[in-house]
Amino acid sequence: MADIEIEIDGNVVTAQAGEMLISVTDREGISVPRFCYHKKLSVAASCRMCLVDVEGAPKPQTACSTPVNEGMKVHTQNAKVKASQKAVMEFLLVNHPLDCPICDQGGECELQDVAMTYGSDMSYFSEGKRVVVDNDIGPLIHTDMTRCIHCTRCVRFGNEIGGIAEMGGTGRGEDLKIEPFLQEGITSELSGNMIDVCPVGALTSKPFRYALRTWQMNATPSIARHDLVGSNVFAQTYKGKVRRVVAKDNDNVNETWISDRDRFSYEGLSHENRLLKPQIKLNGKWKEVQWNEALEFTVRGLANQVSDNQANEIGALASNTATLEEFYLLQKILREMGSENIDHRLDIKDLENSITLDSNIKLTELESIDYGLIIGSNPRLEQPMINHRLRKAVLAGADIDVVNVMPFDFNYRINSENIISPYQTATILAEISKSVLKSVHAKNYLSNVSARDSAQSIANRLLTADNSVIILGEHIINNPQAISIAKLISEIAQQTNSATLNISATSNSIAAEMANFVPGQGGLDANAMLAAKLKAYILLDIYPEYDFHNSVKALEAFGNNTFVVSMNSFKDKVISQCSDVMLPIASFYETSGSHVNIDGKVQSFAAAVSAPSESKPAWKVLKVLADLLKLQGFHYEDSTQITSEAVNQNRQKATDERPVSVIAEAKRGIDVIYQKSPYATDVLLRHASALHATKIGQVHLASMNKSTAEKLQVERGKKYLGVPVMVTESVANDCVFINARHPIGGKS
Ligand code: SF4
Ligand code: FES
Repeated sequence: MADIEIEIDGNVVTAQAGEMLISVTDREGISVPRFCYHKKLSVAASCRMCLVDVEGAPKPQTACSTPVNEGMKVHTQNAKVKASQKAVMEFLLVNHPLDCPICDQGGECELQDVAMTYGSDMSYFSEGKRVVVDNDIGPLIHTDMTRCIHCTRCVRFGNEIGGIAEMGGTGRGEDLKIEPFLQEGITSELSGNMIDVCPVGALTSKPFRYALRTWQMNATPSIARHDLVGSNVFAQTYKGKVRRVVAKDNDNVNETWISDRDRFSYEGLSHENRLLKPQIKLNGKWKEVQWNEALEFTVRGLANQVSDNQANEIGALASNTATLEEFYLLQKILREMGSENIDHRLDIKDLENSITLDSNIKLTELESIDYGLIIGSNPRLEQPMINHRLRKAVLAGADIDVVNVMPFDFNYRINSENIISPYQTATILAEISKSVLKSVHAKNYLSNVSARDSAQSIANRLLTADNSVIILGEHIINNPQAISIAKLISEIAQQTNSATLNISATSNSIAAEMANFVPGQGGLDANAMLAAKLKAYILLDIYPEYDFHNSVKALEAFGNNTFVVSMNSFKDKVISQCSDVMLPIASFYETSGSHVNIDGKVQSFAAAVSAPSESKPAWKVLKVLADLLKLQGFHYEDSTQITSEAVNQNRQKATDERPVSVIAEAKRGIDVIYQKSPYATDVLLRHASALHATKIGQVHLASMNKSTAEKLQVERGKKYLGVPVMVTESVANDCVFINARHPIGGKS
């Protein structure tokens, strides 16, 4: 749009023809009060608070819904505007309870702030005020709907961003109420954003209720590490504790939204299960000791177990939530000691068959795709902020096809949902590949493939789309044909000029790869390390019972006759059983470090609070450990030096020579796809109580169809692998899809 000039309060400013006046005043730093306007939501123009005087217009105009045009002259401060603002303010306060002293929004309330600046100190209104009975809308959001000013931001958020119309207006005039449509309350994975958009104290954070006044807290910018996006947040702290987490704007990452997981996980930080003191095991009994004693014990233990030429008897395993710097230091320690047994891929059954697929599309570019093919994923729960970008694309007209083992609750229109057995995933991709390939004969594995209709139409859409993406999700990681699936996707993408997005691993897994936290030449992968029963293991924030694909094997490996160093932020029974030394480390928001997101963007953060009691940032522990081990090259003054070394190291990616094979028939038994609750993917989440009380956190089902149930000889109401069985014909054949809830803090 062309640049034009308009005049605001006597000053000439440039604007884009057609843009709303309020965006121009915001850009120019001119204060215009508002309630219903939100830069990321549609315009409602219902509160009338943003009235300004436009020369030539008979009445004041709403800045949020008035487009600018050349030569427009606007006044935002004259007597006419002030009188209008005062009148609107008085009108909005007619039914507001004015209970600021007991309202959690006090100090960050737009109504309070605007009333102070634009309102009057007296009212003509002496009648009784209306009272609205509250609904319980779940464990995350507290409602005080008497305070609601009907701005409809929460309603528009649900319709436009969350994708679920959960809140709406009922009644008219005096009886107008904003309330949830369903008794079961709010179920969106992004629901906490309603708290941020509500300009008054009608929707506030339930876990934070009555905890503190907002002005008592400090806000430290940070990065949430629960997914591949690395949403920008503020960790709000008081007396050394994180008391609340809110969104920080970053249009290239999370815009202005964050997932509930990122918002409420901080609750876990103060759980009683935190590991607070270094401990060593002497004659089978745990003893709390000073850090120097614990570290010396660690070094002695490693030396006792592993003589000079046996470094390959040591293995290092790390959780995907570690920081880039922690991954980097731990792999450097191992490599300096002479071991290449290093891995972070703990939940993959067959690492020989593990996925390698690069992502080559940016988060912001996802919004402008015109076609997307999702393979093996429920992105709404796995990667809520990526799903949000896909939803934006669909709202703008994009088509999405899905290949999954069962239908999921997408919050946007799906063009076709292809429900197929896991063993058919590679087959359908081969069919798509055959349909798009120009030189069919070049690929042996396609010679016996004939494309079904659905594969042909997916292929056609990929061929005709201008901006398409193929997304590989986490349900594929343990598919026996995972490598072939990834390779076929890569091949189809090349042939159709599509981008690829690999969301099969999450948290800070991209940082782990960047830090080279993978086995080197001759080194063992995670599964091989467990099978080899090494003499010593260093575990970085790992919880064997929950983090490994095969926890039984892990417990066997960490059993007797091995020396296990556990660096953990939380304690649990299994860690106590299998470790020889427990070193307490900082959790989220308690350490500096970096997250690498799906765009490859390295986002560094400082500690918002100190680690509790005697726990310490893992990077500092690793550095001291390296010094005690007398290893060279660990003279770092702060974590930023480690960051730049990690980012700038010369990493060589080996070419993947593994062949593609497509087996069209089930040659084995039943595939189990195990998906952790989105609120149990890491140890901090597993201790965040409010999230576990949500509908999403409660899902605990082993879904299968009747024929599978018969083969497994299980029935509805019984349990399969400890999870209640749900028999539904919507699940593909020969497949069990397990959504596993997690008991809070690990207690059953
Ligand atoms: S609850 Fe808050 S966001 Fe929703 S309409 Fe009322 S004031 Fe607006
Ligand atoms: S902000 Fe413009 S009418 Fe509400």
